[in-house]
Amino acid sequence: MNVIQVENYEDMSQKAAEILIGKIRRFPAMNLGLATGGTPIGTYRRLVQDHQMNGTSYQNITTVNLDEYVGLSEHHPCSYRYYMEAHLFGKVDIDRRNTHLPNGNAEDLKAECDRYEERIREIGGIDVQLLGIGRNGHIGFNEPGTPFDMRTHIANLSLSTRQANARYFSSMDEVPTQAISMGIATILESREILLLASGEDKADALQGLLNGQKRFSLPASALLDHPCVTIVADKEALSKS
Ligand code: GLP
Repeated sequence: MNVIQVENYEDMSQKAAEILIGKIRRFPAMNLGLATGGTPIGTYRRLVQDHQMNGTSYQNITTVNLDEYVGLSEHHPCSYRYYMEAHLFGKVDIDRRNTHLPNGNAEDLKAECDRYEERIREIGGIDVQLLGIGRNGHIGFNEPGTPFDMRTHIANLSLSTRQANARYFSSMDEVPTQAISMGIATILESREILLLASGEDKADALQGLLNGQKRFSLPASALLDHPCVTIVADKEALSKS
């Protein structure tokens, strides 16, 4: 695992953007796995700036997101489709037909999970998967206790994850209780993983990942098995490692 320590959130975003832009320029038709949450917003902002200033193109890039809330339409401002539109898709030259997120409003959610897995297979897998990390060590919406061999599935969100994400909703009652998430096995099949972490509230999770053993109680520890993981984390996130 390659750990790059940076000073703060802005430096993390800058470093992550540099890594991604380098890859997009070298492999302009790559399959990029994307994440949501507060962590990658600064990275997306820099990708957009670079697109506007230097013309890095997303025309032939295919994207696959980690997850989507169950029960929110793509027009709901807290849906991850809406987030991706607001922070990246709406601001670069990407072809929407090449952007994939699970449909959290599908009538048959189980069939939607299978369709999503199939879609990832059809496009030839994920070249680089961007990841954040939950305070409890979740990746995507794979909460503690999730077996590492799971593929895309309907995930029940823990109370702590719902509380952490409640800041985006007008009340706790509105935070969905379920999401469709790529499974840990799906994530591990990505050829490369770029995990970002910033702030003290991620320090325990990172400590567990960097100093610990593989265990179901810390979903991110599944990454210990992956041959190509880069972590870009700031001082606060690494303060307990
Ligand atoms: C959410 C997302 C994860 C994300 C995590 C951390 O639950 N499903 O993909 O990594 O929370 O979010 P944040 O970056 O806002 O701390």
